[in-house]
Amino acid sequence: MTTVLEIMANHRSIRSFDKRPVSQEKLEKIIATAQMASTSNFIQAYSVIQVTDQEKRKQLAHFSGDQSYVEQAPVFLVFCADLYRIQQVIEYKGEEANFSTIESFLLTTIDTALFAQNVMLAAESLGLGGVYIGGIRNQPEQVSEVLDLPQLVMPLFGMCLGYPAEPIPDQKPRLPLSVVLHQNTYKKEQLNEIHKYDQEIGNYYRKRTNGKREDTWSTMMARLFSKPLRKILRTFIEQKHFRLD
Ligand SMILES: Cc1cc2nc3c(=O)[nH]c(=O)nc-3n(C[C@H](O)[C@H](O)[C@H](O)COP(=O)(O)O)c2cc1C
Repeated sequence: MTTVLEIMANHRSIRSFDKRPVSQEKLEKIIATAQMASTSNFIQAYSVIQVTDQEKRKQLAHFSGDQSYVEQAPVFLVFCADLYRIQQVIEYKGEEANFSTIESFLLTTIDTALFAQNVMLAAESLGLGGVYIGGIRNQPEQVSEVLDLPQLVMPLFGMCLGYPAEPIPDQKPRLPLSVVLHQNTYKKEQLNEIHKYDQEIGNYYRKRTNGKREDTWSTMMARLFSKPLRKILRTFIEQKHFRLD
């Protein structure tokens, strides 16, 4: 039997799937089990949209930066932070929901992420693989329109799932434990250990690309954060009636 730790330690993103379908029964088992994730104040402030309509898939693939696996994966899910449902029940009770601080936005995004990672892990435990699709935040308004998302429902990321096609990609090594796990206070001197990690990642990309890609974790981070990311998001989030005060 494969243990939970073995499944977690074996994770890698899967972007290429074989033709085997994933039964709806299996998917629903995965989602229902994942719902047992811890949830802040029991709010369960998330929804997941399963997208089976091929035309919608095509549009979402395009809005995510033309990521073809969004269209091709046997299963595609969109994970949404969701305060709409809670607002509805509060109004039904004749009261007014006070979502006036950034805390309510944080609660719903944290809840959604915990739930989603449970979905990934449950899927992996059943022999499936998958990849998150943050690319859906490239054009959140269009995604929201395709899925008919009401106010207080924000698409955070997608997830492709299916049976992995061969060859299975190599795993990406993670940061050394010594920079992630701190004892009692935050250890600020980390660069020596990160230099060693950069060499490891350099070797990983050289091997994976037959020497074509020269990259390290540090160069990737510097490139990623050299300009503002998805500047449109603040306006979109506020248009969805989430408050960031
Ligand atoms: C929230 C989130 C969004 C992501 N978005 C994308 C994406 O849009 N496209 C993609 O190919 N991978 C995406 N990924 C996958 C990451 O690139 C991947 O997890 C990371 O490089 C580590 O690789 P591994 O999962 O194979 O270990 C995303 C991961 C997360 C957690």
